[in-house]
Amino acid sequence: MSSTIPCRICAGPVQEFFDFGRQPLSDAFLPVDADFSQEFFFRLAVGVCGTCGMVQLTEEVPRDRMFHEDYPYFSSGSAYMREHFEGLAKRLLTTELSGGDPFVVELGCNDGVMLGTLADSGVRHLGVEPSASVAAVAAGKGVRVRTSFFEEATAREILAEDGQADVIYAANTLCHIPYMDSILAGVRALLKPTGVFVFEDPYLGDIVERTSFDQIYDEHFFFFTASSVREMAARNGLELVDVERLTVHGGEVRYTLAPAGQRQPSEAVAALVAEEKERKLSDLTTLRAFGENVLKIRDDLTALLTRLRAEGKSVVGYGATAKSATVTNLCGIGPELVPFVCDTTPAKQGRLTPGTHIPVRTPDAFSGDYPDYALLFAWNHAEEIMANEQEFRAAGGKWILYVPEVKVV
Ligand code: SAH
Ligand code: TYD
Ligand code: ZN
Repeated sequence: MSSTIPCRICAGPVQEFFDFGRQPLSDAFLPVDADFSQEFFFRLAVGVCGTCGMVQLTEEVPRDRMFHEDYPYFSSGSAYMREHFEGLAKRLLTTELSGGDPFVVELGCNDGVMLGTLADSGVRHLGVEPSASVAAVAAGKGVRVRTSFFEEATAREILAEDGQADVIYAANTLCHIPYMDSILAGVRALLKPTGVFVFEDPYLGDIVERTSFDQIYDEHFFFFTASSVREMAARNGLELVDVERLTVHGGEVRYTLAPAGQRQPSEAVAALVAEEKERKLSDLTTLRAFGENVLKIRDDLTALLTRLRAEGKSVVGYGATAKSATVTNLCGIGPELVPFVCDTTPAKQGRLTPGTHIPVRTPDAFSGDYPDYALLFAWNHAEEIMANEQEFRAAGGKWILYVPEVKVV
């Protein structure tokens, strides 16, 4: 019998179902003159808790290694995501934040992509963001930011200073945080009895359905479902009262939690829980089959890139995403197969991708001399990118996609 480790939510037995092997930190882009022998690696593997059904990494990377003054992910890099968050901010203004003098706290506000809109409308707000690089950009937009990790102690300090919150919000952040007990204790303390805790993160149901295995990397510790979140909430004095499926980042769910007994759960909650049960989403058999699909994509992608190289075709990576660290390191894709990756983020340009050391260049390097193929690492932004890069296709260029399967379009 294989050994298990304790679940970070309920201490139940977590059974591993896929091992990505030795992986670097997904956002640790290296200077070209870095001492590669000092690069940090860890074992990236995922498991599922036999008690509460939460899918999670089996090894935790210390948070200060990932989130710091050089953190290079700036949320406002996508026009589509800017619209997404502006839409949510406007909706909150007419709903949960429409009472007298509302107060909203965002965990992981990054460069202020969401809070910027609320700051402009004069709502009392606070962003909690440990990465000084992105927090500084948020502050420049007029967002009130506190450069620290959110946890129970932070929540109590905010409570003392600003009082209770009507809304606590987190996008693509809660799934980054292994120390959930402290987070939820903080949320409980900081939230008004009538308030809500809203968070949105990649949905395990979509990851399994589309084999989007590159959502699994150091920063993504938990892979939520309605069932596991309902269980997690119940264990922490909270209740899952609504779920909403989102199309962003390849499929997410927005969860709404309220203090237990305060709000009537919507029908959508029971419906999604039932769907997950029907799909046997948290069963080891389902998750092991997902693992088999990952290996097929790895083999197909490596075979395609090797064949294209043999045929003398040029292939460039598009989007130096955190996700692509998992793909390139799992498949062994280095500069000999993909000589560079282009990306709009200045903090990534001129550096090397983690683990596989592919140079990151500006988008000019791509459009200056179009390659035969572009490997779309930022596949979650496919619509936006393909619309912006119509000339590439007009010049005869083709896109390589690997989610949900390897194909050339
Ligand atoms: N909300 C943005 C950013 C997501 S990236 C978006 O959806 O695009 C995740 C962010 O969470 C990073 O900016 C990281 O610095 C931040 N973060 C990590 N741990 C945190 C914690 N304990 N409290 C608050 N923010 C945290
Ligand atoms: P994203 O897929 O949002 O997240 P993650 O890093 O968590 O996997 O990252 C998108 C990356 O792609 C980011 O580095 C910015 C870059 N990008 C471009 O280079 N061009 C574009 O048109 C867009 C939308 C993104
Ligand atoms: Zn558990």
